[in-house]
Amino acid sequence: MAYNVHDIRKQFPILNQEVHGQPLVYLDNAATAQKPLAVINAISDYYLKYNANVHRGVHTLSQRATDAMESVREEVRVHINATEAAEIIFTRGITDSINTIAYGMSNRIHQGQNVVITAMEHHSNIVPWQMLCERTGAELRHIPMDEHGELVINGLEDIVDHNTAIVAFNHISNTLGTINPVEEILSRSREVGAWTLVDGAQSGPHAQVDVQSWDVDFFTLSSHKMYGPTGLGILYGKRERLEAISPYQGGGEMIATVTLEKSTYAGLPHKFEAGTPHVEGIIGFGAALKFLNEIGIESISAHEQNLLEYATEKCSKIEGFRVIGNAKNKASVLSFVVDGIHSYDLGVLLDQQGIAVRTGQHCTQPIMDAFCIQGTVRASFAMYNTFDEIDSFMSALSRAVTMLR
Ligand code: ALA
Repeated sequence: MAYNVHDIRKQFPILNQEVHGQPLVYLDNAATAQKPLAVINAISDYYLKYNANVHRGVHTLSQRATDAMESVREEVRVHINATEAAEIIFTRGITDSINTIAYGMSNRIHQGQNVVITAMEHHSNIVPWQMLCERTGAELRHIPMDEHGELVINGLEDIVDHNTAIVAFNHISNTLGTINPVEEILSRSREVGAWTLVDGAQSGPHAQVDVQSWDVDFFTLSSHKMYGPTGLGILYGKRERLEAISPYQGGGEMIATVTLEKSTYAGLPHKFEAGTPHVEGIIGFGAALKFLNEIGIESISAHEQNLLEYATEKCSKIEGFRVIGNAKNKASVLSFVVDGIHSYDLGVLLDQQGIAVRTGQHCTQPIMDAFCIQGTVRASFAMYNTFDEIDSFMSALSRAVTMLR
């Protein structure tokens, strides 16, 4: 079936509005994607018809809520091809997922070992590992990147060695759009017996991932970047890995037995799900996943790739325009600077013309340092963006540059 962006847009009522008297052009999708009616309706249906706490009540509503939530766990399992639904943990987001693993490894790592990340991680995949290394005396290493924003992996053997406890890296950079060579990094990590974690924050809405074919130990997704609700992350872990680490939050639902002296933990996945889960979020995410899969991630990604190429070519006509991150393999993120103009000023003038972009460091200060810049303007594209919107963005950008020069 042909990709029909106009039909898709009808599912996102929020897009049909004016901002400062101009039609909204939403190009901040790497920060969060808009939500289709299917997601909004699924959440409202839950509150209208079967709101109840899960896993706790004998009553009908509780059973319905539990069934709905657990069926999403199974849908996620199918989506990423995990072996069993118990390997899918619902977290508060990717930050929570990574902290769960970094904290959980505290007793398994010691001085003399190292943790490997890359030079292009989001702060959420840097700081938890720094904290782990501070707690344990392990060394934090990184895989460097070049001036195109590509990882330099020809020295991987020296960085990932027999003392590497875990290699944690993103599939797609939120700032540069670089699609990283996941399989090469995983393969080297396996050779030395290191655990692996792939951060799929930016790949979730753009790429189909099969965790078994990657043979990755941990993989994490963000619901809100995949057209689902905020406050929800997915953490996949191989059973033997999840069983080997301790939970970092204690409370209801994650226990098997509790006495006033001591508690024992529940099995997977509940061991890592203390407290009442984000039931509405999980149900909404199930609807988002269905919506995404009905359109097809490959078709969406092809559409976004066309938008990226079109926008990149058009922008290059603006004097002083410089793309930050021009990797050969790139997803739909266009980060740029315009010489002599602060990215924040550009962002404000774009907003005045109805264009929503993100400006600044994008939670990746080390990338800014590596490129010797303060920040970038970032336009990031989603399934509902159109070529006309790119034209509006370009005209608005040209006007903003003229005003600021
Ligand atoms: N990680 C999100 C972004 O890149 C918030 O904007």
